[in-house]
Amino acid sequence: MSSELPAMSPERPAMSTEPFSVGLLGFGTVGSAFATLLQQRAAHIERLTGRLPVLGGTLTTTEGSFPEILDSSDLIVELIGGIEPAREYVLGALGAGKHVVTANKQLLSQHGEELFDAARARGAQLRFEAAVAGVVPVIRVLTESLAGAHVERVHGIVNGTTNFILSEMTRGSSYEQALAEAQRQGFAEADPSEDVSGRDAAAKMAILARLAFGTPVHLDQVPYEGIEHLQTDDLQYARELGLGLKLIGTAERRDGGLSVRVHPAFLYSGHPLASVNGPFNAVTVESDAITEITMSGPGAGGRQTASAVLGDLVSAMLSPVAPSPPLDPLPLVQDVASGFYIHMEVADRPGALASIAQVLGEQGASIKSVAQHGLGEHARLVMVIHPLAESRLREALKRIAALDFLRSTPRAIRVIEEEFM
Ligand SMILES: NC(=O)c1ccc[n+]([C@@H]2O[C@H](COP(=O)([O-])OP(=O)(O)OC[C@H]3O[C@@H](n4cnc5c(N)ncnc54)[C@H](OP(=O)(O)O)[C@@H]3O)[C@@H](O)[C@H]2O)c1
Repeated sequence: MSSELPAMSPERPAMSTEPFSVGLLGFGTVGSAFATLLQQRAAHIERLTGRLPVLGGTLTTTEGSFPEILDSSDLIVELIGGIEPAREYVLGALGAGKHVVTANKQLLSQHGEELFDAARARGAQLRFEAAVAGVVPVIRVLTESLAGAHVERVHGIVNGTTNFILSEMTRGSSYEQALAEAQRQGFAEADPSEDVSGRDAAAKMAILARLAFGTPVHLDQVPYEGIEHLQTDDLQYARELGLGLKLIGTAERRDGGLSVRVHPAFLYSGHPLASVNGPFNAVTVESDAITEITMSGPGAGGRQTASAVLGDLVSAMLSPVAPSPPLDPLPLVQDVASGFYIHMEVADRPGALASIAQVLGEQGASIKSVAQHGLGEHARLVMVIHPLAESRLREALKRIAALDFLRSTPRAIRVIEEEFM
């Protein structure tokens, strides 16, 4: 018997002479970067998939015709942004049975179910890795790697602009200085309101919640708070308590339902998100089976976002279907308990601390730590309390604000209590 084995030939997908035509809607920051990257990587993608991807047509406000592009394309890449006409074009493409890749978080968080239904009805793929956390492959990890996991919680720093601003504030800048620096370095837009209000992060958390928990969540159902009201003082006092401040998006199982929310939160230094600084994004997924994993990387930028779009294009070319987690809706829960940091400017009178502790106690709060800064008329009390329902915290703050020795409205910021080792 001969021991010689037949020569191995490397397995390659069968080559098709037909190029794979990509219709590109939008040629701005991401669209133009995508066109460049597609050209640079076309030969490599042909080796991977067996077909050479080519740009079949481009649509902007001044050039191109959507019906013509749709007709001549195998797949549509939507990089216009916003709701209309992006929605109309994406629905048109899916309705025609064409695969769609998009980076449009506004569209997905407000019309996701309509789009998923349209894709399912025609067996077309809808892929959107670039819509959340830029180049960080969180969509793929949730829908593929962790498809079998029972996810308990997703925590994310999903907005690079606010993370940059908070990092600058931690180093002593005021909010206004930090925002101006973010704009100077191109991390914040001239109108930063979508980012600093928390709305951009809320859209991304709505998308992640659907994938991680099988629950359709509309942007309007995600309560969000931004970072505009934060003060440099808060960050400095919190640092003394061993806490760092981030804008955190959370989607988690709570009280038999699902809580999805975005707000600034203090983290203890061991938390995996505490060390994510500058314009970076990171997402932590917690589940019994995996304990916890954290993914991080650039959250925006034309070339980085285009790279995530290109990854989706290759996946769509290679795979007959896009993974789509089945729906298993949980009720949305609103009034969840959190730990809180509370900052109060008080006139230093005998019994002031006892009065505050009494109001907190009446609402069921227990104090974890307290520190006093300054004396006399300019004293400040900084406290951290154990988890308390938001409605009770609001009631306690209202009553504390009415105490005669309070010199200004008390401020509260949530604290994520878990200490990771
Ligand atoms: N920029 C980022 O870092 C980033 C990161 C993650 C996700 N995204 C997402 O990527 C998408 C694109 O963002 P971008 O920053 O590239 O936007 P952009 O720079 O403003 O570009 C938008 C493009 O869409 C075109 N467009 C606008 N309205 C149109 C219409 N009615 N019909 C046809 N074309 C139209 C514009 O045409 P003109 O050229 O004629 O103006 C432009 O080419 C958005 O969904 C965004 O949320 C962006």
